[in-house]
Amino acid sequence: MEQTLRVKRFDPENPGASGYQEYTIEVEETSTILDALIKIREEIDGTLSLRCSCRASICGSCAMRVNGQAKLVCKTRVNAVAPNGETITIDPPGNMPVITDLVVDFKPFWDKMRAVEPYLRPEGPVPETEYIASAESMDHLVGVVNCIMCGACVSDCTVLEVDSNFLGPAALAKAYRFVQDPRDSHKQDRLSVLNNYSGVWDCTRCMQCVEVCPKDVNPMGRIMKLRDLAMEAGFNNTSGSRHTESFAKSVKKNGRLDETKLAVDSMGRFNVPALLDSAPVGLRAMRKGKFPWKAHKSSEPEMVKRVFEKVEGE
Ligand code: FES
Repeated sequence: MEQTLRVKRFDPENPGASGYQEYTIEVEETSTILDALIKIREEIDGTLSLRCSCRASICGSCAMRVNGQAKLVCKTRVNAVAPNGETITIDPPGNMPVITDLVVDFKPFWDKMRAVEPYLRPEGPVPETEYIASAESMDHLVGVVNCIMCGACVSDCTVLEVDSNFLGPAALAKAYRFVQDPRDSHKQDRLSVLNNYSGVWDCTRCMQCVEVCPKDVNPMGRIMKLRDLAMEAGFNNTSGSRHTESFAKSVKKNGRLDETKLAVDSMGRFNVPALLDSAPVGLRAMRKGKFPWKAHKSSEPEMVKRVFEKVEGE
């Protein structure tokens, strides 16, 4: 069957000429998007640059955006994306600088990975052979260890799009892996670093990383767990942890969220500069009717309270 691919081109020596180029080729029922791109490169345009290696969703080198969403193209069939022969648009992965065409510079990705010290830091006497952990204590890490570092989650992270300092889903999932490793002796130090600006509290829980991860690593779930662990470890002096506490308290008390209190509690009652800073946002929210003067009450606050008691009891 015939298939058209609209591929983003970028020539670093002539950046002004970048844009989309369309290619129409014959593909098989079973062809992946990577097969199609390789065919274009081999039969039509040898100048098209892309990365790939294993062609079996193992090496993680072929992540790119397909119709706007990050995917491993060696794992994605043409007919799954374009069942009726629709044109497929291919872009390089996002949130990383483009080197040429579909190839990006992974330096920001590796820098953040290094920043979370992705290796075991045990203390105490060095064992004769190796540091051993029981299978049961490592079982829950199997999902996160499946990460092949393809960068799909980083590509589509909506926080990185506006704040390149954010550690990002891949590095934070890797951090979780070592925070939860029973052989590591630096859990407290690690959580302290992750509790800072650009760490676990910067995630907006948009779920994009969960959606695009080809290995079901669930980076956002790991980030949420890191938040719980940081709070349990006593790191409570951040707007993120205050926000969490205030949110739960408000819903528990009223059966609904009191937005006015939430904003003040999150910033800190006596943090005058931050409160003044956010005043324009508050005024805009008020004008749009998003900032109620009085807390809404749930019609059945007792029922909500019972849910809390049950969860807390467990
Ligand atoms: S080529 Fe290795 S993961 Fe796609």
